[in-house]
Amino acid sequence: MERKSRFPDWKMIYETEPVESMAWFCRELDSDLKRALEQRGLHQGRFLDIGTGPGTQASELSHLGFAVTGTDLSPGAIKKAQKLTSSVRFVEDDIVHSKLQGHWDLAFDRGCFHCVEPKDRPTYVETVSRLLVPGGLLFLKTFSWKQEDWGYGPWRFTSQDIEDLFGAHFKCIESLETEYQGTLPQNPKALFSVLERK
Ligand SMILES: C[S@@+](CC[C@H](N)C(=O)[O-])C[C@H]1O[C@@H](n2cnc3c(N)ncnc32)[C@H](O)[C@@H]1O
Repeated sequence: MERKSRFPDWKMIYETEPVESMAWFCRELDSDLKRALEQRGLHQGRFLDIGTGPGTQASELSHLGFAVTGTDLSPGAIKKAQKLTSSVRFVEDDIVHSKLQGHWDLAFDRGCFHCVEPKDRPTYVETVSRLLVPGGLLFLKTFSWKQEDWGYGPWRFTSQDIEDLFGAHFKCIESLETEYQGTLPQNPKALFSVLERK
């Protein structure tokens, strides 16, 4: 049977399923982000976690010393993330219709952009560009084109796709073929990009 959408109902799923069983759940800080921060000696500043979901990544970033804001379009996700930690400011926000005000030095997107519909990608890029200071960094984890297409779930990208989509507002300073850690028996193939706001 044909699926109506490639993605779950984000508002419903956090009301009906424990976060620990979600495919993307990862208690530890994403290992590619951890390395990228260490390599650049980054340990303070305002960090925006876009599509924060269970809030584990935002929580780990706050433990490292960053001032973290986590956003998600799902009220259920925000409620659960708020229960996980009180050291992060969690805000309900759809990044393609964002009402966020303010500026951040750094942003992390682990699995939100690759769920954004192709028609909304330019709005996503413009919005994140508006929210980051010039020289600010976006750490972006998406599925890679090397990952088999399941016919549903995340869109898949090459490093060239990322450059083409983000190039007007961002300079791509790192691109790494890697994995997306979560709860699946085999980690999906992922692309980790570091993008500098022009
Ligand atoms: C694959 S999950 C990743 C969650 C989290 N980043 C993590 O690593 O555990 C994608 C998340 O993006 C959120 N999301 C999807 N589209 C969004 C949008 N347009 N704006 C904000 N959040 C969105 C979903 O509700 C979901 O929590």
